Amino acid sequence: MSETTAFSPRCVLVTGGAGFIGSNFVRYVLAQHRDVRVVNLDNLTYAGNLENLADVSGDARYRFVRADICDADAVLETCRENGVDSVVHFAAESHVDRSIVGPTAFVDTNVGGTLNLLMAARKCGDLRFLQVGTDEVYGSLGATGYFTEETPLDPHSPYSASKAAADHLASAFYHTYGLPVVITRCSNNYGPYQFPEKMIPLMINNARQGKPLPVYGDGSNVRDWLYVEDHCRALWMALTRGRPGRAYNIGGNSERTNLEVVKAILRHMGRSESLITFVKDRPGHDFRYAIDAGRIRDELGWTPTVDFESGLARTIEWYLGHATWLDHITSGAYQKYYEEMYAGR
Ligand code: NAD
Ligand code: TYD
Repeated sequence: MSETTAFSPRCVLVTGGAGFIGSNFVRYVLAQHRDVRVVNLDNLTYAGNLENLADVSGDARYRFVRADICDADAVLETCRENGVDSVVHFAAESHVDRSIVGPTAFVDTNVGGTLNLLMAARKCGDLRFLQVGTDEVYGSLGATGYFTEETPLDPHSPYSASKAAADHLASAFYHTYGLPVVITRCSNNYGPYQFPEKMIPLMINNARQGKPLPVYGDGSNVRDWLYVEDHCRALWMALTRGRPGRAYNIGGNSERTNLEVVKAILRHMGRSESLITFVKDRPGHDFRYAIDAGRIRDELGWTPTVDFESGLARTIEWYLGHATWLDHITSGAYQKYYEEMYAGR
């Protein structure tokens, strides 16, 4: 293992902690690190849901602040009032399909919001900064090959372009100002509390209702799936032992075509494959993502622990056991979103 810089956080500012990965990360930190406090700063967009953290909301080490990451005063005040010593930055507009329909919010939050947080981190005495990134910044692979940290950034969607810009800004703050920034780039996550606009929870939700499962194109696109808890553990390692100025790829070693994933969901749920419906493809749909996670394995000792079949079974079980959560989240605005996104496909 090569040399890494150890850092022991006392109070972590988690941005976007009411979303999917953020809420799993908050729960992970509170459970695994008894001496750490967590401040969750989130403005509760459609994707932010305090129900995701109902079980930890009474923990004395946890605090929620409703604020926008673009609000410089609110971010600074939150960091100063709470003695924040590190930032784990999840808050983002995160859905590719929405970025195709309306890219502006993606630039505002993912680029402008990240810049604002980086400036606040400097003003507060160079807080350690973990930029939670995505493998989508690397673009698309053909049938073979893997993304390494040296792969040039070549984003194809407004979402991934905004995330690439955020990564570049984070890196620039390291090089220009010496801010201790670590960047991670992870493949597709799945697990509890994911908003059902993303493929896996959307398909589970439709299958439980006997509705068609809309597969884009011919279903041959490939994603590398990682169970969310494995991602949270990798993020903690990157925050505490990652080398400032460095990027770490994180992946699940679980490449699947979308059609394979959808069939596995139907099999687990005892539903017929006749629910599968092929619909109009996503414009600019990246064909394949696949990660070489050798650096985080060799430097920090991280490897995924949950294989796809058992992770998927746990995930389906979780959604079926949390029907009220799903019903709340898919009422109201979700219906309109679904109509607009899928009616014309
Ligand atoms: P999510 O959409 O579930 O959650 C995003 C959270 O950010 C929500 O709680 C939302 O309210 C909050 N938020 C959005 N705009 C905000 C703003 N302006 N101010 C404050 N809070 C705001 O997203 P997710 O899937 O949990 O992804 C979290 C992060 O991880 C993102 O940065 C994403 O790019 C990255 N990532 C996600 C995946 C994945 O598979 N989901 C993979 C790799 C990286
Ligand atoms: P998604 O969960 O949106 O993640 P990303 O686009 O960030 O990888 O989609 C995962 C894959 O599933 C992607 O190839 C697009 C596909 N997909 C469908 O086929 N149908 C759907 O309804 C959705 C939401 C996605």
